[in-house]
Amino acid sequence: MSYLVIIAVVVILCYLFKQKKLFANPSKRLLISDVQKAKDILNSSGLDSRVKSNQNLGLTFGISNPFTNSDRPYHQDFRKIIVKSIDLNDGEWNRIKNITLKAVNDYSNLDKGGIVEIVPWIQQITLNVVLCGYLGMNVNVDKVINIAPGIINDLWLKSKELNHTKENIEKIMKTKSKLKNLFRSVASEASETPNVIKKISEIARKHFPNVFCSEATNNSLADDLESPLNILIPAYETMWRVVLYSILEIKVRPSLKKDYDNKELNFKEIDDAVKTFLKKPNHSTLKNDSSILWCIIQETLRLYPPTRHIHRVDEKNNTVTIDVEKIHRDPENWGEDATFFKPKRFFNKMNKAHIPFSYGKLKCVAADKFAPTLAAILISAILDRVDDIILGQKTKESLFLKANLPFENNRRAFDKFEVTLTRKS
Ligand code: HEM
Repeated sequence: MSYLVIIAVVVILCYLFKQKKLFANPSKRLLISDVQKAKDILNSSGLDSRVKSNQNLGLTFGISNPFTNSDRPYHQDFRKIIVKSIDLNDGEWNRIKNITLKAVNDYSNLDKGGIVEIVPWIQQITLNVVLCGYLGMNVNVDKVINIAPGIINDLWLKSKELNHTKENIEKIMKTKSKLKNLFRSVASEASETPNVIKKISEIARKHFPNVFCSEATNNSLADDLESPLNILIPAYETMWRVVLYSILEIKVRPSLKKDYDNKELNFKEIDDAVKTFLKKPNHSTLKNDSSILWCIIQETLRLYPPTRHIHRVDEKNNTVTIDVEKIHRDPENWGEDATFFKPKRFFNKMNKAHIPFSYGKLKCVAADKFAPTLAAILISAILDRVDDIILGQKTKESLFLKANLPFENNRRAFDKFEVTLTRKS
């Protein structure tokens, strides 16, 4: 009998040793703020290492896309679909512009005094444009627009919590299914499923046939693979933050500084660029004829990268974190004025320490044209319709103290931040 026990213990120990669960070093966290090291890591790391670092994201949002699913052929097809969906002609960009101008009118409350909370205001406009403009949902999306940004914010914050208690996980599951049902009910009202979502669903069925067959037991994976959030989260979650910080820097910062140096932001130049861009909103106009707008977007992405940290898990199971925000604010890379918003630093030049869209083979598909052009449409439409953004006395006083520092770049920084918008004549 005792022999049997010894053999069992030896077998278990061998198994654990093989699985590297025994004697393995506890996994470390490495923070990288050197740009060359960061690029080397991003260049050499693959899909697996990103997916391992994104466990929480899959659990929290119930998504299965190349951020959470490491199947390579699926990744290749997913990329192809998105690349095709963002290659727009002038007519399509114009359509998105019109949707954006309407969204600014609809959500700015200008007829009733223009009082809005700045974060939900920008989130609602952006979500509307991503849903109706980019994804082409031809339905009234009001119920999603009013509730989803708050739920997504909430889930995002929960996904960052490292210690998930049972209670916490239950809360996440409840909130997650609320979000999914919301999108499902809107999608079911649409006369046609948006093309990108249809295509993502097709490749999911092609690459994971077992999950979709009638005997499949894992319905939740099928559900995750077909969730519209698979594309909505990458597109919307980054975009609203670029729009928010551009607007804060252009419209709010100048009112905080008495001696505002308008060499950096010439408002007449910005107005002209907005008008020119809105006449023909595409990437070529942005780059060549409205270049100050392009510089504003690059500078916002530098000072306030929406993805502040990019994570990977290496072969030793260490979590490697690229500190994008630190790299973007390091005087070694950008000079002594690194913490100031100076868009013209991008005028006719780029900087190798600018990595808001990551680097290497997993770099954002929308980095070159689509994301900057969509951001420019959103920012231009707001600047075209809104004249001033007036702060309440208390908020002005609290921001005034930090007038020479970058605004806080986190999800809670501008919670309940109420402003009054005035209409452009
Ligand atoms: C300014 C806005 C955006 C920023 C800052 C941004 C940032 C990023 C970053 C940092 C990554 C790579 C993460 C990593 O290396 O692990 C990424 C990947 C990706 N982004 Fe974006 N993104 C933006 C807009 C968009 C938009 C509008 C779309 C879709 C229409 C999009 C779709 C994707 C996809 C599909 C990937 C995965 C690429 C792959 O794995 O091959 N992004 N994005």
